[in-house]
Amino acid sequence: MTLVVRTSTVSETEAVGHRLGRALEGGELIALTGPLGAGKTALARGIARGLGVPREAQVSSPTFAIVNVYSGGRLPMYHADFYRVTDAEELYDVGFYDLIGSGGVVCVEWIDRIPEVAPEERLAVELRPIPTGREIVFTAVGAQAERTLRGIQEGRPSRP
Ligand SMILES: Nc1ncnc2c1ncn2[C@@H]1O[C@H](COP(=O)(O)OP(=O)(O)OP(=O)(O)O)[C@@H](O)[C@H]1O
Ligand SMILES: [Mg+2]
Repeated sequence: MTLVVRTSTVSETEAVGHRLGRALEGGELIALTGPLGAGKTALARGIARGLGVPREAQVSSPTFAIVNVYSGGRLPMYHADFYRVTDAEELYDVGFYDLIGSGGVVCVEWIDRIPEVAPEERLAVELRPIPTGREIVFTAVGAQAERTLRGIQEGRPSRP
């Protein structure tokens, strides 16, 4: 199941993330891919807001920490960036594997650097720069990710 959305500004991309955040149930893995500056962090910021993470929590690229945790929302959100991760062992060291299946929402930028860590069931989100802005391609693998996509399309939470 796929869904394609186009945005022309960063705030529109954040709004798409907001809709996604509202549709999440907990336990999802969201794989954010696309070139440098594509808008992965902007989308993650929207997801955090859609989960109700307070505005005081700065959502920025966790490039150096590998994983940022945002609490205070409906579900905990773990925001990871694998841009500078060189091997899967580094992810063991930061406890990344414990986050998958913890019941929180795990968002990963640059997961394609360490592709073997991603569970098969996931919501893949690819951001592609186009002349008018960004094309955002959602691909759901698994029943939970498909529910999320339907939630985005219908613009309402999949669980009230
Ligand atoms: N339609 C759009 N959606 C998202 N960002 C946009 C859009 N148009 C322009 N931008 C700009 O593109 C940049 C996106 O930055 P962002 O940090 O979210 O990218 P990123 O994919 O996380 O990059 P990195 O790979 O470095 O982590 C911002 O400067 C933003 O203002
Ligand atoms: Mg980023």
